[in-house]
Amino acid sequence: MKKIPLFKVYMASEVDKPLLDVIHSGWIGEGPKVEAFEKKLKDFFGNPYVSTLNNGTSALHLAYHMSLYSNEPKGYDTCSDYEVISTPITCTATNTPIIANGAKIVWADVDPITGNIDPHDIENKITEKTKAIVMVHWGGNPCKVNEINTIGKKYGIKVIEDAAHAVGMKYDGLRVGNHSDFTAISLQAIKSITSVDGGILMMKSEADYKRACLLRWYGIDRTIREGIDLRCEIDVAEAGYKFHMNDVVAVIGMTNFTHIDEIVGRQRDNAHFYDRAFSGNDKITVVPENEKGESSYWLYTLHVNNRDKIMNELNELGIMSSKVHARNDTHSMFADFMAELPNAEKFNSTHLCIPVGWWVSDEDREYIAESLINLVRKYG
Ligand SMILES: Cc1ncc(COP(=O)(O)O)c(C=O)c1O
Repeated sequence: MKKIPLFKVYMASEVDKPLLDVIHSGWIGEGPKVEAFEKKLKDFFGNPYVSTLNNGTSALHLAYHMSLYSNEPKGYDTCSDYEVISTPITCTATNTPIIANGAKIVWADVDPITGNIDPHDIENKITEKTKAIVMVHWGGNPCKVNEINTIGKKYGIKVIEDAAHAVGMKYDGLRVGNHSDFTAISLQAIKSITSVDGGILMMKSEADYKRACLLRWYGIDRTIREGIDLRCEIDVAEAGYKFHMNDVVAVIGMTNFTHIDEIVGRQRDNAHFYDRAFSGNDKITVVPENEKGESSYWLYTLHVNNRDKIMNELNELGIMSSKVHARNDTHSMFADFMAELPNAEKFNSTHLCIPVGWWVSDEDREYIAESLINLVRKYG
């Protein structure tokens, strides 16, 4: 039986030569290929403040670090009183770096259909200790970015976009990466664009950009080369991390990136096919695309009754489907931050993701839509 995967690694066939070239070039750390990739990313996103990293979790870690702590010359003191408002409807990677940075999580509820964080609940949860708000564009569907940034400005709080799912997304006429203080993108194996593992952090301010470039390599300035023996001789004012990208993965990311329009274009086409196929079906609620933007459709999400039964039957028909992420707030590592989140519970009890990626053919998507319609007739 044919199996239609929910995720698939996209690897451009022309990557072999540049990859072999860089592996044998004598320079495999952060160097000219990372620089070239960053130049391409700056042009693509239309933002000059782009820093590549070793993964998306590191991009979030730096965004939280810079939102929580000033760069006083002595390094930084963690403050366990600081709060970050976040969503439980996401990958754990959105939330573990908040506690790793020594802050508390304050959960805001979500829209029960889109799964995206609710700006009204964000505003309800703000206190004098709130240092940042993080939104996650579930499946690549834009959150209410303008509303959330208005709240951030009103209270002087940093706004972070976890756009791990959202490379290729647009909002309010601009590509993701131009609206909030920080935007984190993941280039992990199964994302629309992969560099095997990798991350991108985009910033609005030059000061944050310069700080991120230091923090990604221990706090040391890699650009100073003249008149010194070792870069480590230069004074380090703020303790950083080893989060930078290397030239090997940069070559893979850069080559795959040249295909972004065809990849995301096909995902969007598949999604709009499903929108048409399920429209008028009262047993399937599809997640509507934010009318102010364009989803990257890394996921196509819908809601059905009897979700787990339908998911298992789809899988038996060779159609891989999944909830993709589990509600984060129920993990014991987050037990101190418990909150009533009725809409997160609603979303989490009926949502299901079906294959939508670039590998889903016309024939596949017809088979998927027909199979789902038959199953909801039976169980929905
Ligand atoms: C919503 C979300 N945020 C963050 C991440 C972390 O990205 P990475 O795996 O590149 O560290 C992921 C990863 O898959 C994710 O889905």
